[in-house]
Amino acid sequence: MKVLIVGGGNMGRTYAESFISNQSVSRRDLFILEKEKEKIPYFNALGFDSVLIEPDETISQMSLIILAVKPQDSTDLFQKMSRFMKEGQLVLSIMAGVTIKTLKNSLPTTKIIRAMPNLPAQVGMGMTGFSADDSVTRSELFLVQNLLNTTGKSLYFDEESLLDAVTAISGSGPAYVYFFMQSMIDAGQKMGFSPSEAETLVAQTFLGAVHLLNNNNLTCKEWIDKVSSKGGTTEAATKNFSESSLKEKIEDGLMAALHRSKELGS
Ligand SMILES: NC(=O)c1ccc[n+]([C@@H]2O[C@H](COP(=O)([O-])OP(=O)(O)OC[C@H]3O[C@@H](n4cnc5c(N)ncnc54)[C@H](OP(=O)(O)O)[C@@H]3O)[C@@H](O)[C@H]2O)c1
Repeated sequence: MKVLIVGGGNMGRTYAESFISNQSVSRRDLFILEKEKEKIPYFNALGFDSVLIEPDETISQMSLIILAVKPQDSTDLFQKMSRFMKEGQLVLSIMAGVTIKTLKNSLPTTKIIRAMPNLPAQVGMGMTGFSADDSVTRSELFLVQNLLNTTGKSLYFDEESLLDAVTAISGSGPAYVYFFMQSMIDAGQKMGFSPSEAETLVAQTFLGAVHLLNNNNLTCKEWIDKVSSKGGTTEAATKNFSESSLKEKIEDGLMAALHRSKELGS
């Protein structure tokens, strides 16, 4: 199966490396289209020999084309690519905010899958939400989901509009986690820890809490109740969180992200 990754930036490289290391695509069958000639030696050093600088005939031979460029770079690029694409070629786009309808209007195919990954994809712990045009077959969806899963987990949604919510929850989510972690690190330093001690305490606490959640049937709410004994230290903190409406503020923040994602998409 020949795969072309358009855009050899953060995400393009993440996919290229994940597909190869998971043996989902062979090096021989993986192609990268990247506009800067200067980047060829860099890709060659990573073991990728098939680097295109301009769209050409090679594109017509691809079983899957992955669009990993910034939306603002896509208009001219799509025009050039369209000349070489076959009708009905399978396309996976990870471009934030670019709808399936827009892609169908810009490319000579209806077989579009749109995905929203997140940053931890770079370390194989990503979360990707994806949706597809009705013309994409089950086996094509299955093929693409297997590739997405080389970077972590994925969830399929019938409703493309839910990808705005995916952006608000898991797309932007790592930053919310870092915000909470940084607040705990700052508090730790005020309590007397060095920055590195505070970071170790906090990072391992997050890692441990998530592992515990994933390895049991209890919900987050049940875990909070389980560790908050009456009159104890945990309850002192969680009571303070509730009294200052922290939960509502977090929800408001996520709703603002959802609103912004919809705004950018239109
Ligand atoms: N990073 C994330 O966590 C994340 C998460 C979800 C979705 N996304 C989406 O993924 C896409 C890529 O993001 P990214 O972070 O990987 O961006 P990036 O690092 O800037 O990568 C984009 C790459 O595309 C190249 N490019 C631009 N125009 C091109 C053209 N005409 N032909 C071939 N290559 C071209 C750029 O080259 P130059 O640098 O030389 O311009 C760059 O290497 C974006 O649409 C973004 O919305 C990213």
